[in-house]
Amino acid sequence: MKHEAILVLDFGGQYNQLIARRVREHNVFCEVLPYTVSIDRIREGGYKGIIFTGGPSSVSAADSPRCDQAVFELGVPILGICYGAQLMSVMLGGQVQRPEKREYGKTDVCVNSASKLFHDVSSETTCWMSHTDHIHEMPEGFSRTAWTDTCPVAGMENTAQNYYAVQFHPEVMHTPEGSKMLRNFLYEICDVSGDWVMSTFVEDSIKKLREKIGDRKVLCALSGGVDSSVAAVMIHKAVGKQLTCIFVDHGLLRKDEGDNVERVFKQQFDMNLIRVNAQKRFLDKLAGATESEQKRKIIGEEFIRVFEEEAKKIGTVDYLVQGTIYPDVIESGVGDAAVIKSHHNVGGLPDDVDFKGIIEPLRDLFKDEVRKAGLELGIPGDLVWRQPFPGPGLAIRVIGDITEEKLFILREADAIFREEVKKNGLGRDIHQYFAVLTGIRSVGVMGDERTYDYTIALRGVTTTDFMTAEWARIPYDVLDIVSRRIVNEVRNVNRIVYDITSKPPATIEWE
Ligand code: XMP
Repeated sequence: MKHEAILVLDFGGQYNQLIARRVREHNVFCEVLPYTVSIDRIREGGYKGIIFTGGPSSVSAADSPRCDQAVFELGVPILGICYGAQLMSVMLGGQVQRPEKREYGKTDVCVNSASKLFHDVSSETTCWMSHTDHIHEMPEGFSRTAWTDTCPVAGMENTAQNYYAVQFHPEVMHTPEGSKMLRNFLYEICDVSGDWVMSTFVEDSIKKLREKIGDRKVLCALSGGVDSSVAAVMIHKAVGKQLTCIFVDHGLLRKDEGDNVERVFKQQFDMNLIRVNAQKRFLDKLAGATESEQKRKIIGEEFIRVFEEEAKKIGTVDYLVQGTIYPDVIESGVGDAAVIKSHHNVGGLPDDVDFKGIIEPLRDLFKDEVRKAGLELGIPGDLVWRQPFPGPGLAIRVIGDITEEKLFILREADAIFREEVKKNGLGRDIHQYFAVLTGIRSVGVMGDERTYDYTIALRGVTTTDFMTAEWARIPYDVLDIVSRRIVNEVRNVNRIVYDITSKPPATIEWE
């Protein structure tokens, strides 16, 4: 069954993913494509509506991003947001202007509640503004639906054509009635029925996978992370033991993690799981490596080699499973981000395994949707709500060279920290938290003795997308217990520090 879909046309704004998520929260499937996408591709999509996103450019600039003028001939409702609103105005013959003052932050906006977009919205409502230009003259056929003290046209519509535009951002939570506005656009203007429901999606996917795979063999690299776990269980539900999972234990996992992964997938799901105990192999390769990129590279490469060797033992497989999720797929094509770290996802593509095709059952899902699908499939909550854990594992949380002794210290300290955070009910609010074994040793005193031991750093962050993050305000009492427990229970540690830097300028991981 093909779902109804909305297209989010991406002009490079920072909230574009959020718009897509919001649409899907209203049970409507949604795709994000760069503004450069061809009109034929848009036509093929059969979208029920299009949303133009915000973006950093000024529409008045000569090289400002523009979509194909033909989108206005599709007969599909369009909602322009911020840059998207200005663009709609200019492309249809209106004008924008740069006022003296830039409008930024929470703003009181008056709206005309008779507009379908603002149905059931208070006539004076708070919205999040962030713009330099604003619409000065509306195109013909449009009427004004919202305004502020300084922005004469904060919203406009052409009901005959079903074109709507807002200068503010309805998708962010600082616009409390924004969700209602998006819902109005979807249900009142695009006339969707809301057929995107997780249980149906999971059932449909299992059915489709069964048809596609038939009696063929499938191979999956399981890391124990949310994405690969959900992908594997979904395929297992479809074709059972035709799926073999390879779990490479590189010895850089957290305390008891390898055993837990094995237990869940072998015992609970009765899956064909091969655990490869490659700890020594990885440690040998890492010996002497001190630089973070060098460590990442060694682990990435070794992972592929181990995986290939195991896969060879199984013989020819037909399909390889990838836990790719939607944000990995979107090539917005708008702007190039600088490479800060070479991310390695355990489960990356091996170059020497014989297979006919790749299966990516989560390609259409956002992270929170992957979690919902996981719960739907009966995966334990602990695993579904697992915080992100990097492919290179503890190797990038031990600063400098890696030894078994250092990994042991870090594992113990990290387990105490995580246990206390959970015990104090903070597990869901802090999105990622872990310990780091810094390369620093310093002087301490224990009993009457001088010590010269390691410093453990604790890191906790809150974030929505892991691109930016705030350091988590963990209560002092909790930090205090953690600190005492670590120095008392873990040998060779005599000092604990808490990392209070945001990202940027720091990154979440220390390496
Ligand atoms: P940074 O440290 O760049 O991390 O702020 C952002 C998020 O990405 C995770 N991370 C990785 N994940 N392979 C992964 O699969 C990697 O090499 C890697 N490095 C960082 C990090 O844990 C955080 O969630």
